[in-house]
This record gives sequence, C-alpha cells and structure tokens, in this order.
Amino acid sequence: MNTADLRVDGARLWARIEALGEVGAVHGPNGERGCARLALTDEDREGRDLVVGWMHDLGLAVTIDAIGNVVGVRAGTDPDAAPVLIGSHIDTVRTGGRFDGNLGVLAGLEVVETLAQHGVDTVHPVAVAFFTDEEGARFQPDMLGSLVYVGGMAVEDALDVRAADDGARLGDELARIGYAGPTPCPAAAAPHAYVELHIEQGPVLEDEGVVIGAVTGVQGISWTELTITGQSAHAGTTPMRLRRDPGFVAAAINTGIRALATEMGSLGDGSQVATVGRCEFSPNLVNVVPASVTMTVDLRNTDEALLQQAEAVFAALCDQLAREEQVTIERRTLARFEPVEFDPRMIQLVESTARRLGHSVRRMPSGAGHDAQMLARVCPTSMVFVPSANGLSHNIAEYTEPAHISAGADVLLQVVLQVAQGGA
Ligand code: GLV
Ligand code: MN
Ligand code: MN
Repeated sequence: MNTADLRVDGARLWARIEALGEVGAVHGPNGERGCARLALTDEDREGRDLVVGWMHDLGLAVTIDAIGNVVGVRAGTDPDAAPVLIGSHIDTVRTGGRFDGNLGVLAGLEVVETLAQHGVDTVHPVAVAFFTDEEGARFQPDMLGSLVYVGGMAVEDALDVRAADDGARLGDELARIGYAGPTPCPAAAAPHAYVELHIEQGPVLEDEGVVIGAVTGVQGISWTELTITGQSAHAGTTPMRLRRDPGFVAAAINTGIRALATEMGSLGDGSQVATVGRCEFSPNLVNVVPASVTMTVDLRNTDEALLQQAEAVFAALCDQLAREEQVTIERRTLARFEPVEFDPRMIQLVESTARRLGHSVRRMPSGAGHDAQMLARVCPTSMVFVPSANGLSHNIAEYTEPAHISAGADVLLQVVLQVAQGGA
C-alpha cells in the first residue's frame, strides 16, 4: 500500500477517547460528560496506568522520567535516528473535557497502531509522549513537564513546587502515584521533530466552517498570584470611610483588567485577554469585611510588547488601589512564557497535508498554552487543530465531533509519516 493513502481507524481512536474519559468522569445535568483529572491525583494515576497499558499492548518501549513524563517508542529502521515525537497531556482542569490533551496522546497511539497494522516501517522511530502537569491548574507553571523535558526548569525546582489547592509537594505526589521514573530529565537528546494534535478550544474553526487549523504559534502567557491584605472588620458597624477592604480591591482589579483587555483588544494584531480564575476570601463570612484575598490574574497576548504593556497597566492599577484603600498587595509570578512561533516548514507541511487529504484548512495562532510551545525550543514543531463545538473548552461540555477527530488524526498520521520517512 502506498503510505500516502494510509488513514487512521477513527472508531478505534474514539473508543480510546471514551475509555480514558471514564477516568475521573464528571457528569453534567444535561448529559455533558467531562473529566476531573488534576495532575498527580489518584485519577491522574489511573489515567496514566490505562495509557501506559495501551503503550505496552502496542509493543512500545516505555520510559518514565524524573518528572513523570512518559514516552513510548516504536523503533525506526535507522538505529541512530532521533524519534519523531507525538505528544500532549492527559491531566485536566477540575472541570475539564475529554478531549483537551487526551486527543493528542491517543491520536499518537492511533498513528502507531495504524503503522503497525499495515506493516509500515519508518526511518526515524515514532514516539508518543504525555507530559506531566500541562494544565498548571494544580501545580504552576503550566506545561511544567515539557518545560523540564527541554531543560527550561531544573528538575529539582519542579519537584519542589507546591500545589495551589492542598499545598502538597509535586515530588511527593509524583512518588505517591508511582510515576517518579528513573529516566533522566531533561531528555538526553532532542527529538527529530514534534507534532501535536489538539482541539482548538476556541470558536474560530467552527465559525468559519474550517476543519483543520495549521497552528502558527502560541500566544504569550503571564500568570500572577496576588495576596491582598487589609483589615478584618464588622460589616455592620464599620463606616465605609474606615474600611481597608481587600474584597473591594479584588473586585476593582477584576473589572480593571476587563477594561484593560477591552481597550487593548484593538491594538496591533494581538488580541489581549484577561481573566481572574481563582479568588479566595478570608475569613469568607457574610458579616465580616475580609482580612485578605488571594486571587490570580491570567493575561495573554500574541504580541510580547503588548503583553508587557498589559502587565504594566495591571501593576499600576494594583499600586493605585493599594494606596487608595490602604491595603498591601503582594505579587508573585506563577508563569511567564513569551509568545512562540512554530517552524515555518512544519506549518507548511500541516497545511499542505490537510489540503492533500481534502480538508479545509486555515493558519491560526493558539490562544491556549501547549506542550508544543516548549518542544519548539529544541526541535522543529507544529500543531494541528480541530474544531471545538461552540468554542468551548475547560468545560465539561467540551466536544469535537468524530469526523473532525478522524480528520485531525489523519493529518497527524500523514505529517508524521512524511517527517519520519525522512522526506520532510
Ligand atoms: C492550558 O490549558 C492553558 O492554556 O491554560
Ligand atoms: Mn491542552
Ligand atoms: Mn487545558
């Protein structure tokens, strides 16, 4: 068979998505089926065990590294060639879907199984990886496993990170779930190339009726944790003029960054977004002016200069509010990654392959963070996007229809084949 005609088995891939989606399953009132598989929890262990079992079933040589990244390798015909790596993540946010990350990993397994089924050898090995803690929902920064994999953070520092929810140490949780592996991290050698299939997680492809996104890069990410400290006081007796209210300041920061995003939205080609995703009052009681508030601010832009401008406006807003309300505001950076551009030849390959397979395709940047942005530091990298129904993600209603999943996996297969056969 001409390998250019190879296609994945969409039903087999869908069955694996369904099976992994049962691990940490969350059910919504309207039949939604999502996932709660925060990094290094028992649910994450269960999901990892399932995927590692599939890797063994497929005859892959499986390694687990010191930060818990798992790589399964199918040998190539050239013993000295570096692998073409297909990867993503299987951790989810607490209210996540079944596709975010999981699709990229399971499509990788599907590519390997398709090659094996048809007896197709490749010059380069083809490897499938899932990286630890891509979401950054429990341990910050996000993309932590792939960041360590490429040498962007020392493994000792990563193991010492504390969980945002229960304060657990990452290294202890990794050992507890049995995924503190023996393979050194960072990886000894860079892959030949890296390709990641992912759902878009936004509305663009669906709105335009386009099936494949050839991803050009990932926007910059800036995460800050604020601890605002004022004075706890009686809600009934304390006159407004005497209040030092961190709850008020938190609200003003949230509305302030919304205004910032709205105003900056039209500058350049970067579209500024801004989010307060976590906000905890202490003591969190109806009749007490809070003593303190801990909150997070997520700022993103495809343009680094504009992202810096947003950060400066945000910092000035905090300083002004601290002065006016007589509170203190401590700022701690949780994550900061500059925008990343993918390899032009790899982007072109995704685009031309999608066209050859008869799919509509457009180039687009990614709004979400991805392991691919870390791998892009060490090897030619690209991503394939498929549409997200109603543009929804980080939501249990996240959905991508089976035909789009198969289309994306076929593009992934054909891109990987071309690169792994040494032809691109
Ligand atoms: C990861 O999903 C992120 O972009 O926050
Ligand atoms: Mn993801
Ligand atoms: Mn995500």
